[in-house]
Amino acid sequence: MTLETSPAAERNRQFIVDVLKTVLPDTGTVLEIASGTGQHAVYAAPRLSPRVWQPSDCYRDSLNMINDWSHAEPSPNLRDPILLDVLDQPWSVETQPMTPGISAVVAINMIHIAPWRCCEALINGAQRILPPSGVLYLYGPFKERGEHTSPSNAAFDHSLKSRNHEWGIRDLEKVTLTAAARQLELIECIPMPANNLSVVFKRR
Ligand SMILES: C[S@@+](CC[C@H](N)C(=O)[O-])C[C@H]1O[C@@H](n2cnc3c(N)ncnc32)[C@H](O)[C@@H]1O
Repeated sequence: MTLETSPAAERNRQFIVDVLKTVLPDTGTVLEIASGTGQHAVYAAPRLSPRVWQPSDCYRDSLNMINDWSHAEPSPNLRDPILLDVLDQPWSVETQPMTPGISAVVAINMIHIAPWRCCEALINGAQRILPPSGVLYLYGPFKERGEHTSPSNAAFDHSLKSRNHEWGIRDLEKVTLTAAARQLELIECIPMPANNLSVVFKRR
């Protein structure tokens, strides 16, 4: 079997997991939105135990890729992937609650490769499912004060918009204000390699 690989996920997974170790609640289920190939899921689960890792994606093809990875690199605290489109409401995890309960929502490289309404839906969903002190973690490139933080991010934004005019690198301030209006307070903003950020919100 050939595993689908994302070179970016291969490069960033260790840096992301190092941050997650410091910002996630100590227990509970981590719901990963937009798991893609599943490489972050199989890497994170054994390193973040005893938390449980729940991968998801909105495409069945992605679930197949995630299953392939989790069969190749199994972990007792890694759940089978679930179909979850952030635009659906309610999310399936609201009608079929998880055990242990969801304590964090993680979305890596998703909000700029989807229309803005998906970012809003992600934040709305996080507000609905997270308990007080639950964490929403976003990773990716962001604009700050309306400006790109590097020429490479500006070029990436241009290429995203040429693929889909509704995609594009998001403004950190706009994301933060949207989250604050949904009881998700910005706790930390951590610079990451290749002009990315880890952005951490906590549910009030
Ligand atoms: C660039 S990939 C990132 C995948 C993975 N997180 C990574 O970093 O390798 C973007 C992902 O967002 C997912 N996605 C796009 N729209 C979505 C939506 N409405 N709900 C859930 N996932 C979505 C895609 O299926 C894809 O897996």
